[in-house]
Amino acid sequence: MPDIESQTESKEFYVNIPQKNQPFFLKGSSALDWGMQDRFARIFQPQSGRTVMLAIDHGYFQGPTTGLERVDLNIVPIVPYADALMLTRGILRSMIPSASGKPIVLRASGGPSILKDLSNEQLAVDLEDAIRLNVSALAVQVFIGGEFETQTVHNLTRLADLGNRYGIPVLGVTAVGRDLTRDAKYLRLACRICAELGAHFVKTYYVAEGFETVTASCPVPVVMAGGKKLPELEALSLAYRAVQEGASGVDMGRNIFQSEAPAAMIQAVRRVVHEGMKPKHAFELYQTLRNEPKAALARSGA
Ligand code: R5P
Repeated sequence: MPDIESQTESKEFYVNIPQKNQPFFLKGSSALDWGMQDRFARIFQPQSGRTVMLAIDHGYFQGPTTGLERVDLNIVPIVPYADALMLTRGILRSMIPSASGKPIVLRASGGPSILKDLSNEQLAVDLEDAIRLNVSALAVQVFIGGEFETQTVHNLTRLADLGNRYGIPVLGVTAVGRDLTRDAKYLRLACRICAELGAHFVKTYYVAEGFETVTASCPVPVVMAGGKKLPELEALSLAYRAVQEGASGVDMGRNIFQSEAPAAMIQAVRRVVHEGMKPKHAFELYQTLRNEPKAALARSGA
């Protein structure tokens, strides 16, 4: 029988030490519920407050994109280097090993292909299925200024309501269509609308002039979208400038998986994002890592 009396006497309540109340590390996210913060803390590294998301969802509107023809061969080997994966449920279920343990940002909107008006999107996943997949966040495209602007904003608000109900953060993705300007004024407008209407974080493009005003005027974390393939040094510079100007990380696709050495590239991006490594040094690292398999082969005499 337990000695109840002696247990009581040995208790220490530290009555003179106030309980610690640790603020949550992500911008604008302190008022979120525990489950939402827990999911965020899987996507964003608490040590740096930043993330390197690997975006491979392009097929949801443009089919087998260059570099994504065989996700099992080209992407699965670099999954360990990503902090989170942004993708569709189709690729997740068919290609990504469930034991990879990576937080999933699930593409939750879609509809039109590249053959139609891209802004005519609707929500494309049931929350029950997203929960079944144990996702860490949901992503919805918002086309501010697009033909179906209001419809896509309503997609965001409906998803934000569902996300709040089940504790799943919602990523508002600002789309830049053929006819939409890509400058700081436009991105400030688009990002702010997403945040005001409930997005828990926002993904947008980098602009050379005034990007810091985009991040400053968005009350929730902003992650930078990579955009079209650039030479590696330029892409690393883009990531560097984005985080130095207030982005909480990157969500890069083509600049990683279309690189000649995707594993080397994502490792270099990580150093830029999490450690603030200068682009020049990160590019040197990229070149070293890129040549490693060849150097190892040469050493083995094969
Ligand atoms: C865009 O709509 C897609 O959802 C991609 O996730 C996004 O464009 C990021 O990929 P990338 O770095 O290739 O632009």
